[in-house]
Amino acid sequence: MRGKLRLGVNIDHVATIRNARGGLHPDPVRAAKLAATAGADGITAHLREDRRHISDFDIERLSREIDLPLNFEMAATEEMLAIALRAKPHAACIVPEKREERTTEGGLDAVGGHNHLKPMIARLTDAGIRVSLFIEADKRQLDAARTLGAPVIEIHTGAYCEAQGAERAQHLKRIVEAAAHAEAIGLECHAGHGLAYDSVTPIAAIPSVMELNIGHFLVGEAIFIGLEAAISRMRQAMDEARGVVASKAGAR
Ligand code: PXP
Repeated sequence: MRGKLRLGVNIDHVATIRNARGGLHPDPVRAAKLAATAGADGITAHLREDRRHISDFDIERLSREIDLPLNFEMAATEEMLAIALRAKPHAACIVPEKREERTTEGGLDAVGGHNHLKPMIARLTDAGIRVSLFIEADKRQLDAARTLGAPVIEIHTGAYCEAQGAERAQHLKRIVEAAAHAEAIGLECHAGHGLAYDSVTPIAAIPSVMELNIGHFLVGEAIFIGLEAAISRMRQAMDEARGVVASKAGAR
């Protein structure tokens, strides 16, 4: 039987709000601790090259102070590799990064980046860090991830979340097929980017997806209903999509 669908809460945008004033509030580490009580299974943080949200000190504190597994999102650079090897997070998700982008647009090119990525994945893996590659729902990219020795891939759900109607259904079909292919070739499949209450259900219902990483929507929703409530509601939507509620009722 496949395990429970895990929720990784991305706290980057708590840091975005903090940095808008340059002080200490709101503290992303406090948000991470609260996320744990609200039903998160892990914390995700992206240390960008330009440090626009999460800082080096945040990563140090997250490594020391939280009990949940930390998923460190990083660009494939020597600087980030050195930080990951020092911080020793549970997992590292390698993402493409462009300075001028507003968020992570598109997936990593695991095919074209083979020679650069291969030694980096090996060094992270040797240090006991579980590596995932953030890629598009594309069979060639999945096969390349496997060749590179990454045990996990995270499918980019951004285009699916932005689309509507038939276009969204097309994106969903590609994600469903990619998740099945990941499982068939022995990769653990995660998904994330842009997920909200209206888009999470079909993704959470894909049986081979084991983890969702969600940030921006939760931090935005926290303004209206509080972070704990926003996370619990997402947790509930994921459980419902997975049939957790139905199976509990059936067991009575
Ligand atoms: N997964 C990855 C690999 C990401 O880069 C991001 C954004 O930092 C997310 C998930 C979360 O995306 P969002 O903040 O849109 O929920």
